[in-house]
Amino acid sequence: MLQDSFGRIHDYLRISLTDHCNFRCSYCMPVEEMEWMPSSKLMSKDEILNLAETFISLGVKKIRLTGGEPLVRKEFPEILERLASFPVELTLTTNGVLIDKHIENLKKAGVRSVNVSLDTLNREKFLKLTRRDQFDQVWNNILLLLQEDFRVKVNAVAIHGVIEEEICDFLKITEKLPLHVRFIEFMPFAGNHWQSKKVVTAAQMLELVKKDLEVIKLEDKKHDTAKKYQVPGFAGTFAFITTMSEHFCGECNRMRLTADGKIKNCLFGKEELDLLGALRKGEAVESLIRLAVSRKHAALGGQFSQDYLQANPDSIENRSMINIGG
Ligand code: GTP
Ligand code: 5AD
Ligand code: SF4
Repeated sequence: MLQDSFGRIHDYLRISLTDHCNFRCSYCMPVEEMEWMPSSKLMSKDEILNLAETFISLGVKKIRLTGGEPLVRKEFPEILERLASFPVELTLTTNGVLIDKHIENLKKAGVRSVNVSLDTLNREKFLKLTRRDQFDQVWNNILLLLQEDFRVKVNAVAIHGVIEEEICDFLKITEKLPLHVRFIEFMPFAGNHWQSKKVVTAAQMLELVKKDLEVIKLEDKKHDTAKKYQVPGFAGTFAFITTMSEHFCGECNRMRLTADGKIKNCLFGKEELDLLGALRKGEAVESLIRLAVSRKHAALGGQFSQDYLQANPDSIENRSMINIGG
């Protein structure tokens, strides 16, 4: 069991399969400063499986595959198939473009739930945000996932001046479709030009929603990142991920493994331990994992509070989002 010094049990691992992506969203990928990881530094397929197995032996019950974009990793089908033989719940966060190519792999591996990033329902805005003209592919793949009975969460990053006009449109698509839309408060990462004035808080978004629609609060589960709501009678739900206005670190059960094999004990943790290096040298990996968990801070990697950030917006030491995997 992986318990930290605050009594939190860590049974959820997010594995980044690659730092590459077929989109170019500027809140995630600092294009001007981006250096790709050399392939010799990336975990191989066997190394991923080896480390995943070690985490599972230490009590991990859920693995989420992330990126960059996890589906651009060529060996995705083999990695997924082999992970599926382990006693663990498997899930995925993706930009959705390649879902149709992998839908059978996902079904065969027993994946039941997929999170798809989609920040806008408007084709032109989509092109501006992602620099790719692929709204239709993503939308059709969301429909395909629903048709195939997957539970689908849609992640929309909420940036001030961009999201406000679309919040109610997003909600309206949950009227007939059983989609779970989550608005994510814009978070600071290396190179993403975060400023506190670009954050729209959950409270501000909820106020906008309530001008147009009646809403009810739903019950949240213990380790949920999102605070859930529903418009009565609608098939889907909506929610807010409130890292910036009200963190949820008290119930954190997450660890992260980057594509270059470093364990991060927190999304905002700047201390990383090199599991891949240890594995390649034949050293014990378990003790490093335990050490990483034992060093975890109470909240937000010990790095910031909202007030602190407002005074020191560039002071967070971290990777870019594309290098972490969310
Ligand atoms: P579930 O497993 O369905 O709870 O997914 P999730 O919401 O954790 O994962 P997803 O990859 O869809 O991430 C949605 C948003 O939540 C992203 O912006 C993530 O960066 C953020 N997020 C995920 N995990 C954490 C976390 O541990 N801490 C914080 N602060 N944000 C997180
Ligand atoms: N702030 C909030 N969410 C972000 N994501 C990527 N960058 C940011 C950011 N700066 C989201 C993606 C994806 C999830 C893993 O994280 O949209 O859905
Ligand atoms: Fe856990 Fe860090 Fe996320 Fe807080 S910010 S919920 S401690 S990973």
